[in-house]
Amino acid sequence: MKIVVAGATGTLGKHVADAVRTAGHEAVAISRASGSDLVTGSGLTETLRGADAVIDASATSSTSARKSVAFFTTVTRNLLAAEREAGVPHHVAISIIGAARINANYYAGKAAQEEILRSYSGGWSMLRTSQFHEFVRQILTAGKVGPVQVVPKMLSQPVAAREVAGELVTLATGRPQGLVPDFAGPRRELMADLVRRYLATTGVSRPVLQVPLPGAFGRGMRDGTLLPEPGTRAGRQTFGAWLADQAG
Ligand SMILES: NC(=O)c1ccc[n+]([C@@H]2O[C@H](COP(=O)([O-])OP(=O)(O)OC[C@H]3O[C@@H](n4cnc5c(N)ncnc54)[C@H](OP(=O)(O)O)[C@@H]3O)[C@@H](O)[C@H]2O)c1
Repeated sequence: MKIVVAGATGTLGKHVADAVRTAGHEAVAISRASGSDLVTGSGLTETLRGADAVIDASATSSTSARKSVAFFTTVTRNLLAAEREAGVPHHVAISIIGAARINANYYAGKAAQEEILRSYSGGWSMLRTSQFHEFVRQILTAGKVGPVQVVPKMLSQPVAAREVAGELVTLATGRPQGLVPDFAGPRRELMADLVRRYLATTGVSRPVLQVPLPGAFGRGMRDGTLLPEPGTRAGRQTFGAWLADQAG
């Protein structure tokens, strides 16, 4: 099969492209680095011609609701329009457990993306997952204030991006299923603890300050909205095992 990976240079996208190739399929990478801009949409139809599925692993780094909604709606609409024109029968998307219920800041973009897919009449599948183990690195970059590491008060059940990638490729090689059951990690964790463990393992000595963020965004992070329901299918790799892997 020919599978297009949008956002193929990202945290998730790299694993998706690897998983597509490991499964014996052709992976076509899309990112600005590869010369395709999903926001302008130029040249997308040509890139998608002959593809059997598109896996959308693109993202914005903005936490502004306005920018996140603009990014995810524009990219999703551009991809779906190009898929229609190029005759691609299956769009596979990823969202975040609880994001649509929080519907604020970054999560407003995910809510808008989900809404577009729900009303799409072509073939689509969408998987909601918890935060990736790699999310800790994104938090580190965003929260370094002078000598202190600021971390939002946040409950999560993180999952390995590599395992999520495998799930998305399995979806892409099957029939479109709409919204599929959620997928999370094996253990419930406090984000500040994960950041402390990551810093200790990488030999960085920096005080970690846990801060409750304001508004619906912060409330949703700390009140368990981002956690999976009991009985949700879980990946195998714990954060600790992932960390040991990185250190190795
Ligand atoms: N991170 C998490 O913990 C987590 C958890 C659950 C779900 N998700 C979802 O998983 C998806 C991927 O997240 P991620 O954290 O892996 O993202 P990421 O590491 O920030 O990667 C984003 C990707 O999108 C590409 N991109 C951004 N703007 C683009 C544009 N205008 N045109 C083409 N490509 C563009 C980037 O490549 P270039 O910069 O080269 O263009 C990069 O390949 C998102 O939908 C996110 O909401 C993430």
